[in-house]
Amino acid sequence: MILSSPDPAADPHVAAALLRLQRTSYAREAVLVGDERISPLLEDEIGLTAWRGRWLMAWDGVQLVGAIAWWETDDAVEIHRVMVSTSAMRRGIASTLLSRVLASASGRPVAAATGRANQPAVALYAKHGFRAESDEQIPPGIWITRFRHAA
Ligand SMILES: CC(C)(COP(=O)(O)OP(=O)(O)OC[C@H]1O[C@@H](n2cnc3c(N)ncnc32)[C@H](O)[C@@H]1OP(=O)(O)O)[C@@H](O)C(=O)NCCC(=O)NCCS
Repeated sequence: MILSSPDPAADPHVAAALLRLQRTSYAREAVLVGDERISPLLEDEIGLTAWRGRWLMAWDGVQLVGAIAWWETDDAVEIHRVMVSTSAMRRGIASTLLSRVLASASGRPVAAATGRANQPAVALYAKHGFRAESDEQIPPGIWITRFRHAA
């Protein structure tokens, strides 16, 4: 597996591969939360490339198999997306990507959120030392759990 940090806005091929991965991967979360109105499934290529946070991607040859996106300031880090190809799940790819972001946080608190019913993601965050902080409905009818990883 090779990790790289290309800017999707600078490479239409990367942007297209990322959008494909996002749609197939987050379709899993939609099933688990019982609702397709989750933001990664509503996003198009324009929205995806307009977002100016950071990306780390995992490649198996030329196949994009995983990606993590996060936003950071001097004081905090916020995970925006974590997604793995349906054919490559449960091989440690999300763990590898998340570990890199946690290491790069260098002591800053790291926030994340996922569907409350998304058991794979809830277990992923718990395994990496995140604590559930609160539940809220975004949008109304979809419960998400907010997590925090303290330094
Ligand atoms: C959640 C997701 C990112 C996990 O990716 P992954 O590469 O399969 O995860 P890993 O192989 O690194 O697994 C790490 C841990 O996550 C948890 N986990 C992952 N998949 C799981 C599953 N299907 N059921 C239960 N726990 C699971 C486990 O704790 C696992 O550790 P273990 O293998 O030692 O038991 C992946 O399922 C995915 O892309 N889902 C769709 C998108 C999504 O829901 N993103 C997160 C919401 S923001």
